[in-house]
Amino acid sequence: MDKFNETINFLKKQGIENPEIGIVLGTGLGKLVDNIEIIKTIDYKEIPHFPISTVESHAGKLIYGLIKGKKVLAMQGRFHYYEGYSLQEVTYPIRIMKLLKIKYLLLSNAAGATNLDFKKGSLMLLDDHINFLPDNPLRGKHSDDFGPRFPDMSRPYSKLLNDKIINIAQRENIVLHEGIYAVMPGPNLETRAEYRYLRDSGADVVGMSTVPEVIVANQMNLLCAAVTVITDECDPDNLKPVSLEEILQVAGKAEQQLVKIFIALIEEL
Ligand code: HPA
Repeated sequence: MDKFNETINFLKKQGIENPEIGIVLGTGLGKLVDNIEIIKTIDYKEIPHFPISTVESHAGKLIYGLIKGKKVLAMQGRFHYYEGYSLQEVTYPIRIMKLLKIKYLLLSNAAGATNLDFKKGSLMLLDDHINFLPDNPLRGKHSDDFGPRFPDMSRPYSKLLNDKIINIAQRENIVLHEGIYAVMPGPNLETRAEYRYLRDSGADVVGMSTVPEVIVANQMNLLCAAVTVITDECDPDNLKPVSLEEILQVAGKAEQQLVKIFIALIEEL
């Protein structure tokens, strides 16, 4: 807890007071930041006990400010298992945001579609997930300060938030699928056999993030919602090579719709 207090005291000294909504922005999805009336930007590397982002497509900044008059704390760039961090490290910022008393956590990510009805460039709201990481952020020594040892996961994504997001998408004429996100360790993309296996397992999309953060949010009783930008189609019977550049390009194009949804949601919260 000392470590957590040090981080929190540092952030409070930087003027971060009573954020209401935490936001985690995924790969190629940093543009929401243009819609924040920024009060303070802090590089992760300045924050005591924060891991440091090693992926070039992730900016690595904590941004505090206002969206539609609401205080938000946004992570531009997140931490991934494939970077070599433990899942405790990956989820450290989520615990910090909850301890700073955010009430809602909104996450975004880029992923590939194993459900072939879901086309690249469209969005998917996470209804559920499957953890295929060989680790869990709650593994190891337990402290009741963070919530239960065995958190319930019967509904990891808030119905309240998801219902609002679905309504907003309808109102704004945005195609929003709902489905199951599978997390793989990465950093390689998956093989044809793995895509086939993931599809058969019930997954609609596959990515390399989000699930550890959502597990921790659930343990801490923090309402969360997550939206995927589908950047590629993972058809095992017709698989084409895909590069990070293409993934970023598609993410950038679809991003505007994600931004629209998040801003409208924040206005309603
Ligand atoms: N797997 C496949 N395609 C993807 C991923 C992934 O993890 N992320 C973005 N597109």
